[in-house]
Amino acid sequence: MAERASKASGKSSTKDDTPLGPTGRPYHGFATPPALATHGPARIIALCNQKGGVGKTTTTINLAASLANYGRKVLAVDFDPQGALSAGLGIHPHDMPTIYDLLLDTKRDPHEAIVHTSVEGLDVIPANIDLSAAEVHLVNEVARETILARVLRNITPEYDVVLIDCQPSLGLLTVNALTASHGVLIPLECEFFALRGVALLIETIDKVRDRLNPSITLDGVLATMYDPRTLHSREVLERVVEAFGDDVLETVIGRTVKFPDASVSGMPITEFAPEHAAAQAYLRLARELVSRGAVA
Ligand SMILES: Nc1ncnc2c1ncn2[C@@H]1O[C@H](COP(=O)(O)OP(=O)(O)OP(=O)(O)O)[C@@H](O)[C@H]1O
Ligand SMILES: [Mg+2]
Repeated sequence: MAERASKASGKSSTKDDTPLGPTGRPYHGFATPPALATHGPARIIALCNQKGGVGKTTTTINLAASLANYGRKVLAVDFDPQGALSAGLGIHPHDMPTIYDLLLDTKRDPHEAIVHTSVEGLDVIPANIDLSAAEVHLVNEVARETILARVLRNITPEYDVVLIDCQPSLGLLTVNALTASHGVLIPLECEFFALRGVALLIETIDKVRDRLNPSITLDGVLATMYDPRTLHSREVLERVVEAFGDDVLETVIGRTVKFPDASVSGMPITEFAPEHAAAQAYLRLARELVSRGAVA
C-alpha cells in the first residue's frame, strides 16, 4: 500500500495543457476502440466489493452495454441472489434456468441459461433468489471454489468479455467469481467509509491469487457516486487515489438520479438516456478499459 500511495503523488500538473480530471491526473477522452475482426476468447472480470450499494450492479449493466456498443460480444453474469442485474436489464427469471442451475449441475449446457437482451451484443445469465441456497449446496462439493470457472469454460470462446456482478459478501460465491476471473474491478462509492473493508477485500483477492488463481489481476478501482460540488466527495476521492494510485481508473462516475430511473425502466443508461453525462461516463469507462488492455 505504501508503494501505491507514493505512486499517487505528483498529481498537480501536466507538461502539456491537458486538463486534470477528478482523480488529479490528465483527463483523457480515450479513443474509440477499433472494431474486432474476430471474437473471443473472453477475458472474465469480476465486479467485487463486499460493501453493499457501491455501484457493482449499475457498473456491470452499463459497462456491459457500453462495451457492446463498441461491438464487443459481452456476457453479464448475475451472481447475486437479489437478481438486480437481471431486473436492471428487464429480465425476471421465473420458469427459466439460472446461474444456480448451472452451478448445481456443471454438466448442463450453459447455453440453456443465456438470455439475449434488447442491447445488441449483450447477453445475460440471470439469477434469482434460488442462488441464496447455492453456498449451502456447494460447500461439500469437491473443488467447490472452481465451480463457476467450470461453468463458464464452455462459453468464454464465444464472447470478448464476461462481467460477473458479485453479491455484497466475501463468501463462497464471491470466491468462485474471483477464481473464475482474469481481473477484478472494485467500485468504491465516494462516501464516508468508502475504504472501510477494502483491505479485507484486497486480502481475499491475494489469498485467491495465492491458492486458486495465480494470474488474477486488479483491473482497476472505480470511483462511483462522485459529487464534485461537495468537499466531502472530493476528499474521499483524494484518499482513494492516495491508497491505490494508478489503479484508480481515470473515469469517475458521478452521482445522478438517472441511474435509479434507468433501473426501474429495465434498461442500461446508455439506452435510457444516451446523451446524459452518466451514459457518457460509462462509455468512457469502456474505452479506458480497452486502452488499458483489460478488455479486447
Ligand atoms: N452513480 C450513481 N448515482 C446515483 N445513484 C446510483 C449511482 N450508481 C448506483 N446508484 C444507485 O444506488 C443503488 C445501489 O447501486 P447498485 O445496486 O449498483 O450497487 P451494488 O453495489 O450492486 O449493491 P449491492 O451490494 O446491494 O449489490 C441503486 O439504487 C442504484 O440505482
Ligand atoms: Mg448489486
